[in-house]
Amino acid sequence: MQGIVKRFPGVLANDHVDFDVRSGEVHALLGENGAGKSTLMRQLYGLYKPDEGQILVNGEEKHFNSPLDAINAGIGMIHQHFMLVPNLTVVENIALGLKSSRGPVLDLDRVEKRVQDLSDQYGLKVDTRAYVWQLAVGEQQRVEIIKALYRGAALLVLDEPTAVLTPQEVDDLFVTFKKMAVDGHALIFISHKLNEVVAISHRITVLRDGKTAGTRPNENVTRAELANMMVGRPVLLQYDKPPVEAGPVRLKIEDLYVRGDRGKDAVDGVSLELCAGEILGLAGVSGNGQRELAEALAGMRPVHRGRITLNDKEVTNGSPLMHIEAGQSYIPEERMKEGAIREFSVTDNLILADHGKAPFSNHSFLNFKAIRESCDKVVHDFNVKTPNLETPVKNLSGGNIQKLILGRELRRRPAVLIASQPTRGVDIGASEYIHQRLLEQRLAGTATLLISEDLDEIRALSDRIAVMYEGRIIGIVDVKDSTPEQLGLMMAGVEPT
Ligand SMILES: Nc1ncnc2c1ncn2[C@@H]1O[C@H](COP(=O)(O)OP(=O)(O)O)[C@@H](O)[C@H]1O
Ligand SMILES: [Mg+2]
Repeated sequence: MQGIVKRFPGVLANDHVDFDVRSGEVHALLGENGAGKSTLMRQLYGLYKPDEGQILVNGEEKHFNSPLDAINAGIGMIHQHFMLVPNLTVVENIALGLKSSRGPVLDLDRVEKRVQDLSDQYGLKVDTRAYVWQLAVGEQQRVEIIKALYRGAALLVLDEPTAVLTPQEVDDLFVTFKKMAVDGHALIFISHKLNEVVAISHRITVLRDGKTAGTRPNENVTRAELANMMVGRPVLLQYDKPPVEAGPVRLKIEDLYVRGDRGKDAVDGVSLELCAGEILGLAGVSGNGQRELAEALAGMRPVHRGRITLNDKEVTNGSPLMHIEAGQSYIPEERMKEGAIREFSVTDNLILADHGKAPFSNHSFLNFKAIRESCDKVVHDFNVKTPNLETPVKNLSGGNIQKLILGRELRRRPAVLIASQPTRGVDIGASEYIHQRLLEQRLAGTATLLISEDLDEIRALSDRIAVMYEGRIIGIVDVKDSTPEQLGLMMAGVEPT
């Protein structure tokens, strides 16, 4: 890809990007959210047309009008969200859209045989006769990869494939990558995770703000340099975490049951204690009840059995305001739905839930001077980039909205903080900042429950780590004695020994 330019209304998503991949190579495309990685690859896959620049496959210029053109040129792409048909089997999904090899009726047995061969050859375990709705995400991803290989992809683009996997599944996927590369495939691996990129790639290209920040052979580059290229300034990759003596229990969860949206128990008998001055990490693959637990703890989802005690006060099934008044702050996973109001200004978002209290309000009148001063301070202290306090938050970037929510929630000096995916979709620069504030809060004595799917984040910040699997806590380990392998096994449902 040479000199690729792609504009969206108001956004220069790709700004003269050069990128190449060779057969036998895993080439990582690394960059923060919004850097332009998916956009670049969607052009290679015929989903968008470049505004400028050229795409050459085996030296020949190509103009793709649709993914079909790209597939015919030997290119396959595995998207962040899978595109399989749930009520068809694995084999049927792979056969979908293929011309029959023998007459008008497609020979599913032949397809199945070939699928099994590919599965064996690359270590992509699948049950060919299972219905897709029965498959876990990791398995669906393997089906997508086999499907691309089946269609003769010599070049495979994988858009953030590891985001939905456990560490063990990531290891398995990387073994598959290696086999495919040895077989002469060219692989483009999109990621924003440094560790993974360094673990598997031959070359690494970093995109920042739509431009290439550089391409480096893996052996000539450090993680610190890559982080710097991603963010445009040096970034701390490890934090100082001075020991803190854990104080009294601030949050006590006893045998809690919470139903998910489908009426089944998503939280299935969870007990946890959280002490002052401690960060308890809650790890797990997404969809194992973390979200429902967080919502119940925030007073936003009913508890049908068990008890929540906050600062010695029982708050089970209390309103969100009751939780706040008992000393709890909450950073929700869905920041735009539950953490902020899009159309409201920065100021109005910063006083949400606190507007009825001193110093913001006295005798039912808002004190605009106090509000302005406090909001100015949060914006300044939490480094929120906004044109002014009247700007609607929908105009801020994800990272800045997250810093704003964090600022609002920490301004209350909470005894307990429930932080759900606090840095998801946030760039490394802002993540680093959010992590530092969480660690400061730990020193100040806050009891924090850090719910995250990012094991590196959990390990960097937590004192203890609880792993949630199918609605239960499968084990709790001290971070000092834990290994990623052990945690990964727990995330896959294996109880610690
Ligand atoms: N279809 C689209 N319409 C408008 N803007 C888009 C579209 N797709 C991506 N963008 C914008 O282009 C930029 C790059 O996005 P993307 O390629 O998805 O980044 P990445 O994959 O690196 O996270 C972002 O600012 C994003 O908001
Ligand atoms: Mg993307």
